[in-house]
Amino acid sequence: MSVPAAAWLPAGTFKDQVVLITGGGTGLGLSLSRGFAALGAKVVVASRSREHHAPFLEEAAREGWTVEAHELDVREDAQVRERIDDIVQRHGRLHHLVNNAAGNFVCPTERLSINAWRAVLGIVLDGTFSCSKYAGRHMIAAGGGTMLNVVATYAWTGMPGVAHSASAKAGVLALTKTLAAEWAEHGIRVNAIAPGPFHSDGAKQNLWPDEETEERIRRAVPLGRFAERDEVAAYGLHLCSPASDYVTGECITLDGGLTLAAGRMFPHGARRRERE
Ligand code: HXC
Ligand code: NAP
Repeated sequence: MSVPAAAWLPAGTFKDQVVLITGGGTGLGLSLSRGFAALGAKVVVASRSREHHAPFLEEAAREGWTVEAHELDVREDAQVRERIDDIVQRHGRLHHLVNNAAGNFVCPTERLSINAWRAVLGIVLDGTFSCSKYAGRHMIAAGGGTMLNVVATYAWTGMPGVAHSASAKAGVLALTKTLAAEWAEHGIRVNAIAPGPFHSDGAKQNLWPDEETEERIRRAVPLGRFAERDEVAAYGLHLCSPASDYVTGECITLDGGLTLAAGRMFPHGARRRERE
């Protein structure tokens, strides 16, 4: 069976390499998990809910991929350390870490409770810190590795209604650049991707629960559509692959031009205005 996210890299690109993908059982994380597995990696997915792991485990059994899944709350620093130490002990190495897990919902800032703020900051920023720190220790000892962080363009534009997520993603972007510089001497590359809107159950539930909102967002994207998860994942895989060996501290935007369009003064564009 062909895995679209893996289509642009040579077969066996990640052969026998070990990758940990947080939130790797759903949405974009699942596309990344499938891509790594199809390219030969041993894939470890980790998130809170076993239910979210089942589809990937079943697919892997059918495809003959080497994968495993674990319950993990990335907000729990001790749990993260234990999980990562265990992976390295059993597999000998951790070659790649993908910090994909996230939590989000839309809420005006004046109504955001401190628990709500901490829930999102805890998953996105603290979780990325803990996973990076413990994976980084092993990668330093082993002489290298790659990390991929999933952010969003509002890390630098901001976005009304998601102060928690925007602040957390901005922190992750800063962490990406900081660790890229700090750990380059150890052969560790750290990059990020900033996707625009794509379909996932989590995003639908928390960000665009009704069709009208979804359609309004779609119309704001200059390329006129949401991203495909696989096309976003393909860039993530590329950044972790040897094809990107000289790339570190970079963040690739994959948003169909949405960020550029945010600065447009004439929403329908000059051409349409001339015709009218
Ligand atoms: C206001 C809310 C809320 C909401 C939760 N809270 N949802 N406040 N509006 N819609 C508050 C709760 O009342 C509580 O505060 C605090 O947040 C913690 O809530 P819990 O339910 O206990 O949290 P928890 O079980 O830890 O769940 C975490 C979560 C949830 C973040 C709240 O949404 C989640 O599990 N999300 C994972 C999936 C997800 O979000 N995927 C979307 C990714 S898309 P109080 O004060 O009452 O105790 C994305 C980028 C999109 O990230 C970019 C688009 C371009
Ligand atoms: P998703 O399917 O809801 O993915 C979120 C994942 O994070 C889930 O697998 C969830 O699994 C896991 N997770 C949440 N809290 C966790 C915790 N405390 N510990 C461990 N795992 C946790 O949503 P998605 O849209 O694919 O999002 C994937 C990434 O893309 C996120 O970083 C998101 O911010 C980013 N992104 C999404 C969009 C979009 O339009 N969808 C745009 C830009 C960026 P469990 O519930 O099992 O824990």
